[in-house]
Amino acid sequence: MNICIIGTGYVGLTTAAVLADIGHHVTCLDNDPNKINSLQKGIITIYEPDLEDYLKRNKTRLSFTLNMKQAIEPAEVIFITVGTPSNDDGSPNLTYLFNALDELSKYMNSYKTIVIKSTVPPGTNIQCHQRLQQNGVNQELYSIVSNPEFLREGSAVYDSRNPDRIVIGKQKEDHKSISIMKSVYEGINAPFVVTSLSGAEMIKYASNAFLAAKISFINEMAQICDQYDVDVNDVAKGIGLDPRIGPHFLQAGIGYGGSCFPKDLQALEFSAKKKNIHPHLLKAVQTVNHAQSDYFLKKVKEHFPNTLCTLAALGIAFKPNTDDIRYSPAIKIMKELHEKGYTIHSYDPKATLPNELKHILQFRSPYEAMKNVNGLLILTDWDEHKNLDWKKVKQFMKGQVIIDGRNCLDPDVIKQHGFTYIGVGR
Ligand code: UDX
Repeated sequence: MNICIIGTGYVGLTTAAVLADIGHHVTCLDNDPNKINSLQKGIITIYEPDLEDYLKRNKTRLSFTLNMKQAIEPAEVIFITVGTPSNDDGSPNLTYLFNALDELSKYMNSYKTIVIKSTVPPGTNIQCHQRLQQNGVNQELYSIVSNPEFLREGSAVYDSRNPDRIVIGKQKEDHKSISIMKSVYEGINAPFVVTSLSGAEMIKYASNAFLAAKISFINEMAQICDQYDVDVNDVAKGIGLDPRIGPHFLQAGIGYGGSCFPKDLQALEFSAKKKNIHPHLLKAVQTVNHAQSDYFLKKVKEHFPNTLCTLAALGIAFKPNTDDIRYSPAIKIMKELHEKGYTIHSYDPKATLPNELKHILQFRSPYEAMKNVNGLLILTDWDEHKNLDWKKVKQFMKGQVIIDGRNCLDPDVIKQHGFTYIGVGR
């Protein structure tokens, strides 16, 4: 099929790479000339495992353009994967989505399936339909399909190639889109969940809200565990073996971050309140999450009451295997410690500090960052941080306290090397 993808961020590029890998011809469209220029040269500006390989090996079926007409006219299916960042009031900003629809409306020369993959609140896909009608697009020329993504940064390509499910939202009277979407995803082995347009939008939000709730739940348990000398990792294992609970997303730490959970929970809360629903649970999940980084900071201050000391902080990205720093709890923690007077030596295998924190030192190796420091903080659970040479760490560090904000180290191993291990609920 001829597929056009509007928006070349994480979701757009990953979708493009995987659809080209299946055998489709994919044209990626963006209005950022720098991005398109780089992509045409085979350069991607984000770090995402396997993405570059996929783009390279499918390059004969992939093209990148700024030209809307060239991208839209031959397309049978158009994916919209533009960003929907938060407005100040917590609602998502839908400007990029509506702009894309307005632009593509001008080139609707044949029947096209318009697939909204951007994360949008319930009711938005119906608004998209109305928008096309207002733009004078003949109703016979298109269907709107909602097809949310569930890919995790750091394993986005794998998740897109091996999804747990493919959610398709469509209008009741739309009898064409299911078979078209089955052709789009031919070769991908996953169950289809077919629902209404708003149903698909809700599945996406409910899914992220539930996962975030699991994280806040285990973080709250961790605070209780700390008071009773219990290891929260044992609790996570003990409850996770119950299939009704499941083992995933029960890693306590410094709270969730990233470009999805914080924004999507806010947006769902906003959508609920708009209809006079008071989402107590959604609010609590967010409150616990905000408090979790403060809880970690309290531990740091307890163990290092002298704010003139130097601490190594391993991890800048919001999670491992990505260079994404959006809403990273690691950054929030470093910023706060720096403001309190601590000297921070940071390190991350891929991510860099944002401009506002450029006065914090960033080192090129974890060991360099640890030289003569009073303590070590683990803020992102990269494999590199879990597999440090602890003998070497001991030689480099001046102090002996390690505070593991991701509960990703084995306390026994750390203690055997002569350190004091502090986790979150351990
Ligand atoms: C998430 C969803 O998982 C994905 O399905 C959705 O489409 C986009 O949002 P992502 O933001 O890439 O993906 O990362 P995810 O792996 O979900 O982690 C989110 C945050 O939660 C990270 O900061 C991570 O460190 C934290 N986390 C995750 C925990 O603190 N504990 C856990 O047990 C799991």
